[in-house]
Amino acid sequence: MPMYHVMGEVPRKRHTQFRAPDGKLYVEEVFGLEGFDGPESILYHRRSPARISHARPFEPRPIQEWVPNEWAHRHLRFADFPVGGDPVRGRQPFMFNNDITMWYVRPDSQQEFFYRNGMGDEIVFIHEGEGTLRTMFGSIPYGPGDYLVIPRGTIYQFEMTPSSEPQRHLVLETPGHFSIPKDYRNQWGQLLEHAPYYHRDLRRPTELDYHGDESGAFELHLRVNNGFQVYELDHHPFDVVGWDGYNYPFAFNIWDFEPKAGRLHQPPPAHLTFRGPRFVICSFMPRMLDWDKDAIVVPYHHSNLDSEEMLYYFNGNFASRKGIDLSSITLHPSGLPHGPQPGLDEKTIGMHWTDEAAVMVDTFRPLKYAAVAEQWDDPAYKYSWNDGPAGEGPMTVE
Ligand SMILES: [Fe+2]
Repeated sequence: MPMYHVMGEVPRKRHTQFRAPDGKLYVEEVFGLEGFDGPESILYHRRSPARISHARPFEPRPIQEWVPNEWAHRHLRFADFPVGGDPVRGRQPFMFNNDITMWYVRPDSQQEFFYRNGMGDEIVFIHEGEGTLRTMFGSIPYGPGDYLVIPRGTIYQFEMTPSSEPQRHLVLETPGHFSIPKDYRNQWGQLLEHAPYYHRDLRRPTELDYHGDESGAFELHLRVNNGFQVYELDHHPFDVVGWDGYNYPFAFNIWDFEPKAGRLHQPPPAHLTFRGPRFVICSFMPRMLDWDKDAIVVPYHHSNLDSEEMLYYFNGNFASRKGIDLSSITLHPSGLPHGPQPGLDEKTIGMHWTDEAAVMVDTFRPLKYAAVAEQWDDPAYKYSWNDGPAGEGPMTVE
């Protein structure tokens, strides 16, 4: 996070005595990345954050891989993804490699426990739904289009605003770190004029959610070692009376992303939003299209020679795709070219605006599918570049 932030009470100097009104010392925690070289925050707890009252047996949750019969372009119909579970334990993995795991959930029940990811940073993209992300750093109200960027180790709890409609969350998890692209920042960490967002767009925790003196029975679910460790606590885990630093959760709304347009077609990096180890996250948002009178306004065919391209479509009409719904996911894997379905390059000539909105993750190592993907696979998609009865006929299903 490029900005220093402080909330609540902190002592004048770090690593010094800091006492509660009852005279007891607050417990200091250094919450930092990359050893002691990365961004860190210093938190002051009411009691030791290492305190637990009981450790339950570890629950392994290895990902079950689905290996399709063909290596081909793929479309997952997540519009019909099942509703169920809470925002954390209800998540189901659908694609993964060593750098990133992608999860999906349509939660319809509240998260009654507290959660901490001990093995990765998370970005939770809120497609549908609103509520509050309560964290040990304070609360962040959230709504549709929010990227919730949550550093590993953050204890948090989703509080969904009650609604008849289940929410939709796309969750990206990496054993590395998410970052704001270097080329958007100067050496002082300030976002530059050409960056597609600014500091004012980055929403930090608004108020501390202090429960320092609350005892009782609480559950903390820790994600580690590809599974879950559940601890029982005899105190409320949000016992931070104050903190300061650079390592904390924040929200950025995709509708605050400022797309670029050009005389001729702009490449995907023009939509770059966040970086991770060997992958990038891009935001394709409603924008003017290429204005040259001879422009082809839909993306040219391109071969993903060094990368894989996952797209999550969440708003608008997709000028370059056929058979795609809201909440659809496509994977255009390495080794294969892809581009607009037949006729769409012609059909879109003269178009000046697109209202399409999608989140794209480009990975520089191949992606695998997890078991749930098989259930929602659209077997016709790989044939959707067949334009009519050239002996084959379009969209033939195996
Ligand atoms: Fe592409």
